[in-house]
Amino acid sequence: MVKLEEKVFRDPVYGYVHVFDKLIWDLIQTKEVQRLRRIKQLGGTYMVFHTAEHSRFSHSLGVYEMARKIIRALMYCGTVLEEEERLLVLSAALLHDLGHGPFSHSFESVFNVRHELFTERIIMEDTEVNQVLESYQKGFATKVRDVINKTYENPLVINIISSQLDADRLDYLLRDAYFTGAPYGEIDVERILRTMRVVNNKIVYKVSGMHAIEDYLMSRYQMYWQVYLHSTGRSFDLVIQNMLRRVRELVLSGYQFRHPIGALADLFLEKDLSVETYLKFDDATISHYASLFVEEEDEILSDFADRFIHRRLLKEMHYVPNDEVNKNLIKIGEYMSILGIDPTYYLITDHSVKTPYDYYGHKTNCLPDCIELLMRDGSIKEISEVSTIIKGIIAVKPKQEYKIYFPLDLIKASGNVEIKNKILELLPENIQ
Ligand code: NI
Repeated sequence: MVKLEEKVFRDPVYGYVHVFDKLIWDLIQTKEVQRLRRIKQLGGTYMVFHTAEHSRFSHSLGVYEMARKIIRALMYCGTVLEEEERLLVLSAALLHDLGHGPFSHSFESVFNVRHELFTERIIMEDTEVNQVLESYQKGFATKVRDVINKTYENPLVINIISSQLDADRLDYLLRDAYFTGAPYGEIDVERILRTMRVVNNKIVYKVSGMHAIEDYLMSRYQMYWQVYLHSTGRSFDLVIQNMLRRVRELVLSGYQFRHPIGALADLFLEKDLSVETYLKFDDATISHYASLFVEEEDEILSDFADRFIHRRLLKEMHYVPNDEVNKNLIKIGEYMSILGIDPTYYLITDHSVKTPYDYYGHKTNCLPDCIELLMRDGSIKEISEVSTIIKGIIAVKPKQEYKIYFPLDLIKASGNVEIKNKILELLPENIQ
């Protein structure tokens, strides 16, 4: 394989990201990988944690670097990957998030696309990434795709990129903790790497690393509730979603936009969305459209665009679902319609559920996806058999949250005092 003089990227999480292989260097230069600089890793989370503006590009480089560290750690304990598989792991690590759209999850739900599918298509179709992979070795793109899709023949290769404790999760926890300022993601990665061993072509951990792994699982759980599922970030995502939903409805009904919307219309009108159209979109293009939509005649569109630009978020309230509350929510929707506020856009119910360690949920093609410990007598045990903390966690029901989001500002501004008061009375929490 063609080696380079070492190239480095400064990185606040690892100090440096090191690149030694021409293949990896060439992949980083492609326009599809460079596009990830224009997509924030955490979507609308920067509306809560104001410094969480790091990009998918820095996360992708980070997963590459973490995969490199894992390969090196495995080498120290005697498992050396073949050259081709080493490059396969590193390429898959770098490319695993290639298909993310702007404000990922909002974008996906409106356009009914999955970023995993676009990652696969960008690797396989006529793109610069595909050319670089195929010029290294014919058929290499297919292998990289198979590693990301977890169908590649060697489970160890898949394990490094996707498992309960993989390069992706380790990087995003460290990186998101650093950039949000939330301390929960600080985990003892060195300890985890040092206790990795390979048994039956799968990564296991010496039992002496168990406490570092417990800490990692708890960190991830805390990051979910404190950062990823934060209601303010979620409220901003709903604003983006509703803005795009409204655009779709207007495009399909033949509405005449004041400013031409160009390629954005293609997103809704193209029968089979092409990779070329998809790649035109990033956070900046969506923000640009929002600034135009503020001036649209359609009130719902201009309101959501204005909310997006000026961070006028929807109000969130917690509730516990039961017959009475559910009836009240329907009534609130009816009253909102009387005030001219369309509940299909402005009254949103939301449900989050998260467990710290879910080893029942996922399987790769060949292995149950669980964390296994190498015991001192050489036997292998699933971590919840050994750790009382993990055992306790999986014994209880996962934490759940139910919330509604609605425009308290519009309701309060209404001149219809009678209906306004009825809505305020029916809300699941008191308004001060
Ligand atoms: Ni990722």
